[in-house]
Amino acid sequence: MKTMRQVDVRLPFAMWDARSIIRDAVAIMILPFIVAAFYAFAILEQLYEVLNFILLIHLPSLPPDKMKQLGKLSVDVFDPDRLGPAEWTDLQRNYIAKCVPFVLRRKDGAPLTDAAPPEEAVSAAFRQGCIRVVSASYFHNFGTVDHCIGKLFPRRPRAYWPLWFLGKYSQGKAHVDLGPATYNCYYLKSGGKDVIIAPPEVTRKVALQPGIDGIFITDSEDERREYLKSLPYYYQIDMQPHSLLVFSNSACIHQFRNIDSPDASPPEALSIRMAHPTFGDRRVRWHLMTDVRMYWRFTTYAAALFLREKAEDRKAAYI
Ligand SMILES: [Fe+2]
Repeated sequence: MKTMRQVDVRLPFAMWDARSIIRDAVAIMILPFIVAAFYAFAILEQLYEVLNFILLIHLPSLPPDKMKQLGKLSVDVFDPDRLGPAEWTDLQRNYIAKCVPFVLRRKDGAPLTDAAPPEEAVSAAFRQGCIRVVSASYFHNFGTVDHCIGKLFPRRPRAYWPLWFLGKYSQGKAHVDLGPATYNCYYLKSGGKDVIIAPPEVTRKVALQPGIDGIFITDSEDERREYLKSLPYYYQIDMQPHSLLVFSNSACIHQFRNIDSPDASPPEALSIRMAHPTFGDRRVRWHLMTDVRMYWRFTTYAAALFLREKAEDRKAAYI
């Protein structure tokens, strides 16, 4: 792809080349707006948490005996064609508002969109062990996927550009995403994903290391996933093609492991983020107000999109 770039998190004006000078210049111009927006989001999210406290809306507590392993939990799966207004409202109130992940999938497994990643993003050779992230147009219509998201998050705009996740790799680190609090509407177009999601009340008890895009569990990219032994319970989801997984990526530790298609091609997944402050992790909010590296990362990413650099390859364990 002509506009492919390696992920490159730098201080301004380090490692100059002609394109990065332009990118850095654009980034510096928009930096104050990004920082101001992050402060505004942090304040709004804090107010939302206070409101929840006043309304006595709390997270479940961990079991008193934390050594007791409740282990794997499964998620509920719903056929979006069979949901009426009451069921959509139930998903808003009893799943999204309580940070409970769920999956939408048609009973016959039919696709929810015929959208595909850009041809050139798929045809350019993948580097083993790297994730390729490709942004789609902010206003692209993803058919039934967008219809479902509209039912779950009424009258709400997307938080970011939709992103395609491609590439030949196994898994990244188990992490919580940095940035304003969002829900991730994650559509699997092809292949499979073995997904771990830790609920917020579990996530809050786990020590997480600061990264640039997220806060993560040390060494959790290891294939054995030893860290799961330390979690009292977590969701494990065997994602099938044409599934839409909905979960809070700002409140829940999550990790996706690729399962190739029968023809050995790697999975293709689309991530659409919706702003939603439910039980966002406080450590993420702290970063939102203090983390200079994160400001610069978001700002240069936005500048790259502005300059139509729509794809980047990054190591799977990068965070
Ligand atoms: Fe994430």
